[in-house]
Order: sequence, then structure tokens, then C-alpha cells
Amino acid sequence: MSNVRPKHVPAVQFPVRDDCLQVGGMSLIRLAQRVGRTPFYAYDRQRITGRVALLRQHLPTEIHLHYAMKANPMPAVVQHMASLVDGIDVASAGEMKIALDTPTSSCQISFAGPGKADNELSCAIAAGIVLNMESEQEMERIAKLGNHLGIRPKVAVRVNPDFELKSSSMKMGGGPKQFGVDAERVPAMLVRMGKLGLDFEGFHIFSGSQNLKVAALQESHEKTIQLGIALARHAPGPVRLLNIGGGFGVPYFPGDEALDVAAVGKNLRQLMPEVKRQLPDARVVIELGRYLVAEAGIYVCRVLERKESRGQLFLVTDGGLHHHLAASGNFGQVIRKNYPVVVGNRVEGAEREIVSVVGPLCTPLDLLADRMEMSKAEAGDLIVVFQSGAYGLTASPTAFLSHPAPAEVLV
Ligand SMILES: Cc1ncc(COP(=O)(O)O)c(C=O)c1O
Repeated sequence: MSNVRPKHVPAVQFPVRDDCLQVGGMSLIRLAQRVGRTPFYAYDRQRITGRVALLRQHLPTEIHLHYAMKANPMPAVVQHMASLVDGIDVASAGEMKIALDTPTSSCQISFAGPGKADNELSCAIAAGIVLNMESEQEMERIAKLGNHLGIRPKVAVRVNPDFELKSSSMKMGGGPKQFGVDAERVPAMLVRMGKLGLDFEGFHIFSGSQNLKVAALQESHEKTIQLGIALARHAPGPVRLLNIGGGFGVPYFPGDEALDVAAVGKNLRQLMPEVKRQLPDARVVIELGRYLVAEAGIYVCRVLERKESRGQLFLVTDGGLHHHLAASGNFGQVIRKNYPVVVGNRVEGAEREIVSVVGPLCTPLDLLADRMEMSKAEAGDLIVVFQSGAYGLTASPTAFLSHPAPAEVLV
């Protein structure tokens, strides 16, 4: 049996010239010189623009595209994204501050997530953003805070549907969940909302993340729209917002196939006339994080040493799990699989070898590539982890072992 892991998913989004990866119109070597240190994350502006354009090409024109900035909250990325999309979803007061610094109108910013603190709610009410309420208690707190501030809060109900987004690696709806209000309890909540005098916007129905299966997304879109229409009958006013979630995935691992957005868009086009008939005032929103940024980003670290141990080769680098938890396999993976990793300044190389890429931490979990075939690297070479634009730096335990944080650049 081979000791080699299956080849990684092809990462073809960045060109290669003279065997060196090109990022943001320059060679990776030049970019590393420009940044001035390793490790770093680089996000490619053009790749982000292209991704939004691809979606616009395939989704019905009436769909509003929102960026879930939890995927990548770097302010420069959020600013760039704000010029491309119709709204931003935030998950904390910290993210809200970054979103409010963009030209996005506050009524196109929404705030979702369980456990919002009173202080966060008050700031959001004052900012005039839409609060996606995750529980009946949260609704009561919002009403009280709105009264206290003398401002009518804009609200939507985050609904925990009675179905799941199938084939999602992370499910946020269906069954018992800490997210949203169980669909069967929403009618009573809507009656109460009418009495509290909140400014009702509509519904937020987000069921899952990282989905590559068209059939699962289609089924979820159909059920989500039907649920929104059914709940609208109990609403204290017209539904002006129907956020049908997102969950569009990207390929990371061997065997993953890119999502067919054309097929997803075609099905949505067929569903739009019914939405228009039943909810004529509603703007339909799709809320995406990972799909918009993951493939536009790379993580770059430098080889410090080649090391051999009992027949296995290791490249010891200055980067690792503390900067990129997801690539180490410790952010939601059940069985560890390799992200796509290459030696960025010698992509094909003259010689190939089987090697593991590790970081400086004192734990065997600090593994960026496990026995992968790569070109032969030396100390000083640059290791690149693809698919790193989403849930990279801010989803990592940067304080662990007190190494410096990586740089971040938008190029
Ligand atoms: C409410 C909400 N919106 C959007 C997202 C973004 O999901 P993704 O990055 O998979 O598009 C998440 C992910 O956890 C979420 O919980």
C-alpha cells in the first residue's frame, strides 16, 4: 500500500510563470519581498471581483448578494467586496464596525448569531442595521433597548427550519439548534412582534455551509422559499426581506468537484416568479462567505529546514496551525485531508519528492501537508497553501505559543 496521500484538488486559479506562482500580477518571490516577511496571507482582488461576476452571470438578476464577512473580515477585503455586492452580514460588533466603515447602506447590513450582548444590540439598533433575531428572548431585549434608545429597531426572524441542507459539512438548520427560532414557534413570535412595534423586515433562513451538491442546494432553496411564504401569513407587515441563506462550497480535497453555480442559478430563476407573486415586496438575499473569498486567498510560509526522520521527509516552516487552523485539519474535519499545497517558487520543480510540511509548534497537529508529492524544496523556499481566503487567519489560534501573527495583504 502506498504511503502517499491522494493528490490534492487542482488549484488553477493563479497562473504560473517560469515555474513561479503569480499573485496579484507579480511573482510570488517579488510579493514576498514586497510584504517583507513571512508568513503572510495574500488575497487577490481580481479573483474576488471575478467570483462575484460569475455569480451575477448565473444568479437571477433580482437576487441580492450579501457578503458574510466572518469568512474574511480583513478591512481591505471588506471594502473591496462592498463595492461589488449588495449587502454585508456581520456576526459581532467588531465586524459591524468594519462593515459600517464601507459605503454599504446600514439597512443592507444584517447582524446574525446567537448570544448578542446588550451593548452590541444597542449599537446595531442605533446604526439602523437589520437584526436577525435568534430567539424570543432576544426579541424582548431588542424591544426594550429600542424603547430605551427611542429608536425603532429593524428586525428579521432567523428561522430554524424543519429541514436540513443535505450534504453540508456544517449544518445550521433542522433539528434542535442554537441558531434561530424553530419554525413552528415563529407564528406566535410574529404576533408578539406586532405588539412590540418592531420594524419587521422579514426572514433569515440559513441552513448550512460548504455545500458542493447542486441537488441539495436546489431542494433547500425550494423548501426555504415555501417556508418563507407560509410564515409570511403570520407576519405583522409585508415581508421586505427573504434571506434564503447560502452555503455554496468550494473544493478543498481530493475528489471534491467545483459547485455548478449555473445549475443552482437556473433553478433559482424558476423559483423567482412564485416569490414575486406571493411576496411582492420582498428582496431575496443570498448570503455567502467562503464561496466569495476562499479561492482568492493563499497562505505563504518559508521553509526553515529540511529534516529526515526514519525515512520520512519533513519541511519545517515558519508557518502553521496557529495561523491556519483549517489547513492543519483541526477546524471541523473528521478525517484529516490535505489542502492543496505547493512550493510556490518552484511549482513543478526539476525533482519531486514525498514530504510533510510542518510548523514550529510543539504538537503533531501542526501539519500543513501530510506526505504529499511536491517539488523538492530547500530552506528559503516558499510554501503556498491554496484555498486560504476564507476561515484562515481569524479562525486560527494566533496566540498559541506566542509566535508573531502573519501579515495580510490584498493585492
Ligand atoms: C448566518 C451565517 N451566514 C453566513 C455564513 C457563511 O457561510 P459560508 O462561509 O459557508 O458561505 C455562516 C457560516 O457559518 C453563517 O452562520
